[in-house]
Amino acid sequence: MYPLQTLHTFGFPVHAANVQLVTSLQDIQQNWQEIKRQHHYILGEGSNTVFLENFLGSIYKIAIKGISLRETDQDFILKVGAGENWHQLVEWCLSQGIAGFENLALIPGTVGAAPIQNIGAYGVEVEQFITSIEYLCLASGTIKTIAHADCEFAYRDSVFKQALAGQIVIGYVTFRLCKNWVANANYAELRELPKPTAQDIFNKVVQVRQLKLPDPRKVGNAGSFFKNPIIDKALFEYLQQRYPSLPSYPIDSQKVKVPAAWFIDTLGFKGRSVGGVQCHVSQPLVLTNNGMGNGDELLRLARQIKQAVKEHFLIELENEVQLVSNTGLIRV
Ligand code: FAD
Ligand code: EPU
Repeated sequence: MYPLQTLHTFGFPVHAANVQLVTSLQDIQQNWQEIKRQHHYILGEGSNTVFLENFLGSIYKIAIKGISLRETDQDFILKVGAGENWHQLVEWCLSQGIAGFENLALIPGTVGAAPIQNIGAYGVEVEQFITSIEYLCLASGTIKTIAHADCEFAYRDSVFKQALAGQIVIGYVTFRLCKNWVANANYAELRELPKPTAQDIFNKVVQVRQLKLPDPRKVGNAGSFFKNPIIDKALFEYLQQRYPSLPSYPIDSQKVKVPAAWFIDTLGFKGRSVGGVQCHVSQPLVLTNNGMGNGDELLRLARQIKQAVKEHFLIELENEVQLVSNTGLIRV
């Protein structure tokens, strides 16, 4: 049995039957039929994954490296290995004078996982830069390329979490960053910055994130546990009448995004624990492991929150993190 405690940021002391390091798509292509037959899980740095209990199959930890850069008159084109660290890529780009990723600074994890849930923060989503993705298709054993238009990117969602879920191993992501950079500083704390450079935005995002979010190297967590719900306007208007302070972000004429943290906070969950798992005291959308928690306690606390939000606000929260049971993904 292989320990998984240091392979996911929630840090539960569970094990897997097998863990293999993958340094190229060809590594995994050789055995694709065998992999498909068994319980398996494709892993980056485990910062959006919680292993709730011992895993009965094989974990494939993606360590495909490499950054290649070319330029056109207007753009920088980067092809990056799935196993590269996301934040290091953001820093490297800035050091090369390539701007664009700065709003996404300090998001943990790998480049290969970034398109899966279309990572986003501070008014930017990674899909804005993705042009194509090279992956191994576990249905056919062939290496394919998918264009941005076919990735069905949405808020914390993509085709890789829907029709292609569990069927692909991403090897490379290709990004286009425009040389004619324009600051994206309309979101929350970034508005304070007068005429910011990309480095100013990077610094501010890092500062705010370090203040708000627990550092997974010190306290086990996987970032936001639930997605921010997108609800119908009619339900939003009903809730707004009863709770005039409810914040909101319009999506279109029919839909409104509302912050899950506000509902969880309003229901008094901040600081509440089940065993060693706690609803974080300053950012209640984050659940944490004090080092002694386990998967059962996490599910109990998450279900309490989900049920209370449903009862009081008629909203069904959906987990954002990938919860892995002994054979594969489950929902709260
Ligand atoms: P993992 O947890 O290892 O995997 C995540 C999913 O991707 C799994 O389904 C896995 O099977 C799949 N996967 C991973 N690599 C591959 C691959 N090469 N091919 C196919 N499938 C693959 N997310 C945000 O969007 N915005 C934030 O602001 C943010 N803040 C965070 C803050 C903290 C403190 C933490 C702990 C997490 C935060 N997250 C945030 C979540 C997390 O950082 C992202 O989801 C990140 O992309 C996960 O990368 P990973 O390599 O750790 O993925
Ligand atoms: N809020 C409260 N009480 C609190 C904290 C927040 O009521 O204690 C309310 C406030 O109204 C606040 C709102 O919630 O304005 C939003 O809070 P915050 O700005 O902290 O962001 P979030 O919606 O909780 C989202 C992402 C984060 C991302 C930040 C910044 C999701 C699920 N989460 O969090 O992503 O970093 O915005 O853009 O969309 C992640 O995905 O893991 C993650 C951390």
